[in-house]
Amino acid sequence: MSSSIINSPIAGCMRWGAWGSKFNTEAYHSMISGCLDNGITAFDHADIYGDYTTEADFGAAFKSFAARRDQIQIISKCGIQMLGPNRVQHTVKSYNTSKEHIISSAERSLQNLHTDYLDLLLIHRPNPLMHPDEIAEAVNKLKSAGKIRHFGVSNFLPHQVTLIEKSIPVEFNQLEVSIVYTDPLFNGQLDQCIEKNIVPMAWSPLGGNIFSNSENTTNNRVIEMARKLTEKYTTTVSGVLIAWLYAHPSQIIPVMGTSQLERMIEAKEVKQIQLSKEDWFKLLEASRGIEVA
Ligand SMILES: NC(=O)c1ccc[n+]([C@@H]2O[C@H](COP(=O)([O-])OP(=O)(O)OC[C@H]3O[C@@H](n4cnc5c(N)ncnc54)[C@H](OP(=O)(O)O)[C@@H]3O)[C@@H](O)[C@H]2O)c1
Repeated sequence: MSSSIINSPIAGCMRWGAWGSKFNTEAYHSMISGCLDNGITAFDHADIYGDYTTEADFGAAFKSFAARRDQIQIISKCGIQMLGPNRVQHTVKSYNTSKEHIISSAERSLQNLHTDYLDLLLIHRPNPLMHPDEIAEAVNKLKSAGKIRHFGVSNFLPHQVTLIEKSIPVEFNQLEVSIVYTDPLFNGQLDQCIEKNIVPMAWSPLGGNIFSNSENTTNNRVIEMARKLTEKYTTTVSGVLIAWLYAHPSQIIPVMGTSQLERMIEAKEVKQIQLSKEDWFKLLEASRGIEVA
């Protein structure tokens, strides 16, 4: 339905600030500018990143890109309420999908990011207390005020997407999926994306850093298999693993968590790679440790 709004891998900003690389304004500026110059135009946020600080830190640099705003896609999420010094009023980690919360969270994201609109707002997690009519009311109000352009969900199972679609169409579902987390290939999430023209985005597309745990036997099997394929496809191990995601027929868009521009660029370039079906299954087998039935 709306894949045309995002035509590149997405730069995930969760690890750019307090939860990772601790970029200063200059580093944000240089990363944003490097991404744009290389055709990477979508940036993924959530209100909570960096304990509610990353959007504002990014925004301090992003305001100088105002002239290019129409060539950029800004994604944010709401609905998780975290504990901590930046939200002392919260007494328990919880979800909030009330109309008031969705609207006020989106408006605060706009303020922090120094932009007038979000290209896409996602409900971050399915809330056991959510009602689709209430979510639809909030989204429609934000849309008619020009504050958001598209709407989607994140981490929703098929029946939860169906529930929301009782009241409003879902255009995107941002899911955890990678060579080391393959549940969405088998639990109906990606099938539903194909069926309903929902655009799937993959968070932790490299398993949140598959290279960081050398004790993990699954990771090691996958890395070993991917390494065998690097020469054939003239790429790196991570290139093979991102190409594996691109090969899925639901047309997954990876949300890369790297803080390094060259790695973002690699994620864009490997879109050209066409993994053979046999190599795709060799990687799946390496991940699961068994051949398919
Ligand atoms: N919707 C949700 O619930 C949800 C949940 C979690 C995350 N997210 C989104 O998804 C994004 C990505 O998540 P993630 O950070 O866990 O994903 P990831 O891309 O699987 O992992 C990123 C980590 O892998 C490291 N890495 C090592 N070698 C790499 C290579 N060759 N290429 C790229 N990265 C390499 C990166 O380090 P370097 O920085 O040194 O490259 C970084 O620490 C987040 O930024 C956020 O926007 C969404």
